[in-house]
Amino acid sequence: MKILVATDKPFAKVAVDGLRGEIEAAGYELALLEKYTSKTQLLEAVKEANAIIIRSDIIDAEVLDAAKALKIVVRAGAGYDNVDLDAATAHGVCVMNTPGQNSNAVAELAFGMMVMAARNMYNGTSGTELKDKKLGIHAFGNVGHNVARIAKGFGMDIYAYDAFCPKEVIEAAGVKPVASVEELYTTCDVVSIHIPATSETKNSINRDLVGRMPKGGVLVNTARKEVINEAELITLMEERGDLKYMTDIMPSAHETFAAKFPGRYFSTPKKMGAQTAEANINAGIAAARQIVGFLKDGINKYQVNK
Ligand code: 3PG
Repeated sequence: MKILVATDKPFAKVAVDGLRGEIEAAGYELALLEKYTSKTQLLEAVKEANAIIIRSDIIDAEVLDAAKALKIVVRAGAGYDNVDLDAATAHGVCVMNTPGQNSNAVAELAFGMMVMAARNMYNGTSGTELKDKKLGIHAFGNVGHNVARIAKGFGMDIYAYDAFCPKEVIEAAGVKPVASVEELYTTCDVVSIHIPATSETKNSINRDLVGRMPKGGVLVNTARKEVINEAELITLMEERGDLKYMTDIMPSAHETFAAKFPGRYFSTPKKMGAQTAEANINAGIAAARQIVGFLKDGINKYQVNK
């Protein structure tokens, strides 16, 4: 069996060594395609793969057509909007993610960006503190839970909204549930976004929602750029000189944000939330183990295209 690791944004070496150990111990062969520069390279590499481990790499119908021996794709991470699930199902390919494995890394980066915004991008002027500020956690999954845990250490007043998570779960984590997404944005000084990109959530963070934030509001996005209505956020930030946008996913309109909102906008050059040795090891090894479990014993616990 040939297991391909196809990562445009490579794992830390220690993670690759770890997942290689899992794969070789199972008697399988590892192939590595890192930092590829064209889809042609991916199409070539998948030809003989029986399993593929990816990150945000795009697996579409064309890739699946080229991967004639493919049985399983594991997205080493949480969001799987980069995989065409219907095409995978049509090709008889199982798709899994590795939920929770990189969530602390993403949560820590969200706080890195919150502190950066509160301290005026470290420009030497007097900033503010996170203590006693109201934090809104938009979706209370694995990252949201970690954000809440860290926020307690900062002494923040913590609120969350999640359309699918029971309020008892939010309360059990010591967080105040709010009844609507509008209430979350109206209430909170800082909102940290942790929703997936789906047909329902795309463009949903819009002028109406962010415009409800109190004066000096900070929007932190470590989720997906697609959930932001960029045109409306630009209009709103033009109208309200107090708002800041911190993102780990460079917007399509990055040049416009950067030019119009110096000191109020920051984007990482490449998504860095899950880019830690620990997260790479956790997610990479989980992906390798899930592949071995699936190929040897048919275990499909984290399948997302059932
Ligand atoms: C995820 O969905 O797991 C995160 O967004 C991390 O994505 P990455 O593996 O491309 O860094």
